[in-house]
Amino acid sequence: MLKGRTIVVTGAARGVGRAIAEACARHGASLVLADIRADQCRETATALTATGASVRFSHVDLESPESIEALAADIRTHEGHIHGLVNNAAIATDVGGKLFDEIDIALWDRVMQVNVRGTWLVTRALVPLMPAGSDGRIVNVASDTALWGAPKLLAYVSSKGAVLSMTRSLARELGPRGIGITVVAPGIMRNEATDYVPAERHRFYEDGRAVPGPQMPEDIVDVVAFLLTKGALALTGQVLPVNAGFVYV
Ligand SMILES: NC(=O)c1ccc[n+]([C@@H]2O[C@H](COP(=O)([O-])OP(=O)(O)OC[C@H]3O[C@@H](n4cnc5c(N)ncnc54)[C@H](O)[C@@H]3O)[C@@H](O)[C@H]2O)c1
Repeated sequence: MLKGRTIVVTGAARGVGRAIAEACARHGASLVLADIRADQCRETATALTATGASVRFSHVDLESPESIEALAADIRTHEGHIHGLVNNAAIATDVGGKLFDEIDIALWDRVMQVNVRGTWLVTRALVPLMPAGSDGRIVNVASDTALWGAPKLLAYVSSKGAVLSMTRSLARELGPRGIGITVVAPGIMRNEATDYVPAERHRFYEDGRAVPGPQMPEDIVDVVAFLLTKGALALTGQVLPVNAGFVYV
């Protein structure tokens, strides 16, 4: 499905990003894995390389515009151009549990800087590496909490709502270049990032799904891989809730 395509996945050191990278490799893509967790992401790249895939690690800190520009320069040097980008990296853990009037301003600012500004800046830096005819595809990773309005998660929900809206406007700006951009809105999964979430909150989501039960990163990654294919252009601008039917759009 992705043979001959070079895909950049941010936040690929662990969790959902790592699972997306594994799926893309399984579907034949070459990969650049970018993360602030250098050792862990290098380990992911090494593990995927051992399966026969072409995978390289490149460091990035989404809080730093200079670091994002350095990522783009590094990819330009090594890969030259790319066919896909998954904006997956985000502050996604230890962000919940407080009401709107209890959230620290510093946390709010950091979440916005990484999740919203970081997504924009990575897109801005890497779109020039998707030349005409490359069938460029971008997949942004949001969250279904932004669709149903989860309480006690306001900074995170607001950031993911911004990523959703950003995707729609970018679809119109990038469409004339033949670049498609979509956004997935996963439901809560069972992974390291959500270990901090109380058990009853996990149960609330899991019991509310059309297909009840826990969701793992592996359950959503083939959808992301499909969105990176040439054939997914007709979906540009759309949000896909990949949450086993917790919320519909
Ligand atoms: N886990 C879930 O249940 C769930 C549900 C819906 C959406 N999501 C989304 O999926 C994506 C991945 O989440 P996850 O569960 O794997 O979380 P995670 O915390 O395990 O992974 C996030 C990754 O982003 C990286 N990252 C964080 N800040 C960074 C920065 N400043 N610069 C570069 N990289 C940085 C981390 O190092 C990490 O590898 C996020 O966008 C998250 O919002 C997760």
